[in-house]
Amino acid sequence: MVSGNREQRWFWGTLVLSSVSIIALVFAFWELVENHYFRDLNYVSLHYLYISRGVASSLLLAAWAAWFVLRQRRHAEAELRRSHARYHGLLEASPGAVVLFDRSFRVAEWNAAAERLYRFERAQVVGQTLPTVPPQRQAELDALMQRVDKGESALDCETQRFDRAGKLIDVQLSLQAYQERHHEYYLEVTSDISERVRMREMLLEVEKLTSMGKMAAGTAHHLNTPMASLLLRVQMMRDRAGNDGFAHDLEQLESTIGFCQQFIRRLLDFSRRPALQKEPQAITPLIEAVLGFMGPSFASRQAQVTTDLSGFDCKVYAESNQIETLFIILLSNALDAISPGGKIHVRCLREDDNLRIELSDTGGGISDADRERVFEPFFTTKPPGKGTGLGLAIARNIVSDHGGQLQLRSAPGVGTTAEILLPVVSPVRPQEVAP
Ligand SMILES: Nc1ncnc2c1ncn2[C@@H]1O[C@H](COP(=O)(O)OP(=O)(O)OP(=O)(O)O)[C@@H](O)[C@H]1O
Ligand SMILES: [Mg+2]
Repeated sequence: MVSGNREQRWFWGTLVLSSVSIIALVFAFWELVENHYFRDLNYVSLHYLYISRGVASSLLLAAWAAWFVLRQRRHAEAELRRSHARYHGLLEASPGAVVLFDRSFRVAEWNAAAERLYRFERAQVVGQTLPTVPPQRQAELDALMQRVDKGESALDCETQRFDRAGKLIDVQLSLQAYQERHHEYYLEVTSDISERVRMREMLLEVEKLTSMGKMAAGTAHHLNTPMASLLLRVQMMRDRAGNDGFAHDLEQLESTIGFCQQFIRRLLDFSRRPALQKEPQAITPLIEAVLGFMGPSFASRQAQVTTDLSGFDCKVYAESNQIETLFIILLSNALDAISPGGKIHVRCLREDDNLRIELSDTGGGISDADRERVFEPFFTTKPPGKGTGLGLAIARNIVSDHGGQLQLRSAPGVGTTAEILLPVVSPVRPQEVAP
């Protein structure tokens, strides 16, 4: 503004000074001509000479002023174009998504970062109502607008916005009032903080689980012994009760105590993640051992278990107890899922540097809604007292502790396949050191 005023003063100053100089020069030149050549002119001729002097100086002045104003205008236009380009360049280069909208939420500006974040093209939104505010965040935006209207700042607020696909994105938002001539706008700058929010939630979850693990370890230690003696007493009472009316109740009690013991064991398995004593280990013998050990459970459910393990005796750095626990968990889930007479198939295959193990069952499968949650600790669809919901959480911990990946593929009504990828110990690299 200050520089604009100075420029204007300079413009008028130069124009007036140069005009005065031109008049002075023309008058001086005419005086010289008159003095030199027309000294003896009569009064009328002299009069015309003065008139022509006036006309000449006016013409010169007009030509000069027109050229000067035109030059100045071109200069100002070039400057305007340059500052417009700079303004657009800055807007487009901004790493934050910049959105300018008015009081009725009509969009006036939408930069490249906003196109990337919200997946709306500029042409689709400019002139339209702001499409990114979820209904549940509207009141919050109204409150922020009132704050900036009062001259207060609204910086780094955490909120959410919609993208074009209707997906909610966690964003950090700053809002400012912006005035352009007689129009009032709001300048919203947002950046995607989904990853930060996810990490924070994960950290909270880990903290929660760590403190839960510590508590569980202590509680389990104290509960284990009384629980074992309780179970023993109940078993003795059941033996003594024979076939009288209490026998059924005692049987129920025994199975409930059994569940509590299993829950405590699982809780300990989940919370304690001891440093593993890994060594190169063939996986197929471990699977066969678990299948043998679980034979009676398969038989009681008339499960048809088939395997395809031959030829894949490549080794993995693994702790055998943990790998056995992993297969017990996955096979128990398959067994729980199938109806009597259902099928379970286990197969191994080599996939690049990994051993791929697939456990398929012909159970009821997992619904789309549940598939997101099955790895969450304590998520179970089994009736109370039947499932701890810790099986898959422990299984995933075991696989990731072995540098692998565990996934479930499931088609509701058809069955489920658990896929495990474990990195194999390469025989062509004997110098490799166990991690
Ligand atoms: N093979 C499968 N077929 C169908 N659903 C499965 C299968 N495996 C897991 N699930 C679903 O995932 C849920 C969580 O499994 P997870 O092993 O973590 O706990 P759980 O089996 O319920 O309890 P627990 O392992 O203590 O018996 C199960 O309740 C079940 O709904
Ligand atoms: Mg389970």
